[in-house]
Amino acid sequence: MQKILITGASGFVGGFLVEEALKKDLEVYAAVRKSSNLQYLTDNRIKFIYIDFEDTDALKSIFLEHRFEYIVHNAGLTKTPIKEQYFKVNADYLENMVEALIESKTVPSKFTFISSLAAYGPAEHTHKGLVTEDSIPHPVTNYGRSKLQAERYLKSKQEINYTIIRPTAVYGPREKDLFTVYDLINKGIEMTVGLTDQKLTFIYVRDLVSVILDATLDCRKNVAYFVSDLEIYSSTSYNELIRKSLGRKRSFKLRLPIPLVKTLGFIAEKAGKLTGSYPALNIEKVNELEAKSWVCDTKNLVNDLNFKPRYKLKDGLEESIAWYKEHNWLK
Ligand SMILES: NC(=O)c1ccc[n+]([C@@H]2O[C@H](COP(=O)([O-])OP(=O)(O)OC[C@H]3O[C@@H](n4cnc5c(N)ncnc54)[C@H](OP(=O)(O)O)[C@@H]3O)[C@@H](O)[C@H]2O)c1
Repeated sequence: MQKILITGASGFVGGFLVEEALKKDLEVYAAVRKSSNLQYLTDNRIKFIYIDFEDTDALKSIFLEHRFEYIVHNAGLTKTPIKEQYFKVNADYLENMVEALIESKTVPSKFTFISSLAAYGPAEHTHKGLVTEDSIPHPVTNYGRSKLQAERYLKSKQEINYTIIRPTAVYGPREKDLFTVYDLINKGIEMTVGLTDQKLTFIYVRDLVSVILDATLDCRKNVAYFVSDLEIYSSTSYNELIRKSLGRKRSFKLRLPIPLVKTLGFIAEKAGKLTGSYPALNIEKVNELEAKSWVCDTKNLVNDLNFKPRYKLKDGLEESIAWYKEHNWLK
């Protein structure tokens, strides 16, 4: 059996990734922390590894002991009010891993890095209105900038066979941020931001994890894939699909001007500081909501990996909402 190390295994994407890797008969090592919630990692074939990404010597000993065939570096920080934290977790930790792999001469057949479309930023900054590999990256958040820094480092390391995966918005059961939109629509409010609709793209978590593993096991190296379900949705049609999946006939439609959303994001973030939480609507999030288009080039995903999404947004939303209802997240 070939050994695969999956970091960030306790997170939303990580849990599905572990499940998919087990289905492919890989020997799965799930990298977690002492504080991680392991409630979705119950399969007794999973081998847990506690990794401190700040300790390069400890990383080297783990790599020497296990000599992984594949590594999927999926751990990442997606939400924090502290800019430096993004760069530490999303870029420095990747550097530490890669350095430890090279120094311990345990470089895997493939090192897959889960980056994000956010590393390139929205499509309106590109001259074709489509984010492609050749576009000049224009991240609009510190999260995106930290992912871009990690990508640039990885690409500079000739010793590593890498694949970079750049998912657009990922949704599915257990996801917590987009869930706040479903929750609001379930309460009867459909909200859109800005005077005109955004062009949005999505990927269902189950399709994303199959792409990640297909790309990891594929012999092509030093490639990057933007990952969506190959469709473009307007913010209005997104809300409508959610409302229909929730089984609601009507809702109150609210179109908020950008300056108001900026103020709300600012207030929510400051209020969160007082309570020690970080809200789904925050200052960085507003930059993403303000962007007009998240359309990306998925040609090589189809050509190299023969990708055909099993879930379009309607199917994925129906499955997700059924899960949220079954687990009483939605009443
Ligand atoms: N969800 C999306 O829409 C989306 C879109 C594009 C790209 N991505 C990328 O996909 C990956 C997975 O995202 P997700 O949505 O599954 O996020 P998530 O649910 O927040 O999971 C993040 C994972 O990373 C781990 N992690 C975070 N900070 C860490 C640290 N300091 N040290 C060690 N581990 C740490 C978490 O461990 P704990 O459980 O211990 O906290 C968790 O396992 C991330 O790299 C993210 O940037 C996500």
